[in-house]
Amino acid sequence: MTNTLLQTAREIHVELEARETTWEFAPGRTVTAWGYQGLVPGPTIVGRVGDTLVAHLTNHLPEPTVIHWHGLRLPALMDGTAAVQRVVQPGERFEYRFTLPDAGTFWYHSHANETVQIERGLYGALVVLGPDEPVFDADRLLVLDDLKLDRRGRIAKTALFDRHSGREGEVLLINGRSEPTFTIAAGQIERWRLVNACSARYVRLSLGGRPFRLIGSDGGLRTEPVLVTETLLTPGDRVELAVGPFDDEGAELAIESLPYRRTSMKRPRRDVWGTLRVGPRAPSVASIPTTLASIAPLVPAGPITPTRTVRLGARMTFHGHDWLINDEQHHHDVPVKVGELQVWDIVNETGMDHPFHLHGFFFQVIAVDGVPCAPTSWEDTVNVVGKGRVTIAFRPDDRPGKWMYHCHILEHHAAGMMAHFEVVR
Ligand code: C2O
Ligand code: CU
Repeated sequence: MTNTLLQTAREIHVELEARETTWEFAPGRTVTAWGYQGLVPGPTIVGRVGDTLVAHLTNHLPEPTVIHWHGLRLPALMDGTAAVQRVVQPGERFEYRFTLPDAGTFWYHSHANETVQIERGLYGALVVLGPDEPVFDADRLLVLDDLKLDRRGRIAKTALFDRHSGREGEVLLINGRSEPTFTIAAGQIERWRLVNACSARYVRLSLGGRPFRLIGSDGGLRTEPVLVTETLLTPGDRVELAVGPFDDEGAELAIESLPYRRTSMKRPRRDVWGTLRVGPRAPSVASIPTTLASIAPLVPAGPITPTRTVRLGARMTFHGHDWLINDEQHHHDVPVKVGELQVWDIVNETGMDHPFHLHGFFFQVIAVDGVPCAPTSWEDTVNVVGKGRVTIAFRPDDRPGKWMYHCHILEHHAAGMMAHFEVVR
C-alpha cells in the first residue's frame, strides 16, 4: 500500500449500532449474539493518520454500554469508560469524535459488563495507515476470538471458575468464523495484522512452524523486522507480520497456537485456528525496508529508577478470588503529570500470567525481571509472567483527564485487577 498522492485529512463517519444478532460462526451453526451493526466482529474501520473518526454508537441492547478505543491516543473524554462518560443507556446515542494520531492496528470494544458484552461479540478492528507504509502484495486482518458454548449450543453463562482463570471457549474463531482457510499466492508477501480479542486465551501463534517476520506491535511498526517461527499474543495484544514468500504451491499450513502455560490450572495444548494454503505463483511487488521505524529510548542506558510500583495480586475470598492492584480492588492510583517521565515497575505477585494494559498512552518495555532491554516497539499491552516483573516507561503528552490500567483478562479486570489514575497539568 503506497500513498504517493497528497492526501487531505477526511472525516470518517461510522454507525455502530449495538444490537442482538444471529451470528453464524460456522456453516449452519449459529448463536444469538450481540454485534455492532449486527456483525461479529463489528465493521472494520480503516482510516489514515490525521483523519477524524466520528463513530455514532446507538444502544439497542437491553443494558448500558460504552465503546473503548483500545490503543488510541485520544482525549480522555473519548476513551469510552464509565470514568469519563455517562454510560449509554438502552435507546440512547453517543457520538465519539477524535483524530487518528498514529498508524497501526487497533481495536474497539465494549467497556461495560465486558465479560458478557465482548464475549457476545461487541468488538471490531480499526486500522490506521501512515503516509509512508511499506509495500506488500496484500494486507490481511485476522481478529482472533474464542467462544464458550453450553450443551445446548448457546453462549455459555459465566462460570464461577472463570473468575479465577478467565474464560476460555472451545470454538476458535478468526474474523468470527471457525477454522477458515486463506490462500496466499506462492512468491508473494502479505502483511498480516492480528488482534487477540479473546477474554483470557493466550495465543502462541505458529504458521505450521514456518518462519515469518515480526514487523509491528501494539503501537505500529517496530524498529526492524525480526525473523521468528512463533509469537505470543495475550488478550488485547496486536502484532503485525510479514508472511511469505512460500515456494511450495499447494502446501497447507496450520494457523495454530502452540502450548503455553499461563496458569497451572490449565493444561497447555496445541490448537488449530485455520489453514493457510499456498496458491498458484504470482509476481511480487513487496519490499520491506530493513529499518521500519525509529524509536528513541525514553530512558538512557544505565541504572533504572522506577517512579512507581504496580503490584498485581490476588486474595482468596468466600466467592473465590479477588484480583488486586497494590492490595486493593479497583485501586485509585496517584496522578501523573503531563510531560513527566514515568517509569513503572509492574510486579506480578501471583503465580499466573497477567496482560497489563494501559489506556491512552504507549509505553516502552525497558526491563524484564530487572534485566534492561532496548525498546524495539511501542506497546499498550504487555505480558507479565507469574512472579515476574516488567518495567515500562512512558511520557504522558498533554491529554489530562481520567485514565486507567488493568489486566486484559476480562474476568480479572471485572474482579478488581484495575486502577484509575489521573493525568494532570
Ligand atoms: Cu481493551 Cu480497558 O481495554
Ligand atoms: Cu489477570
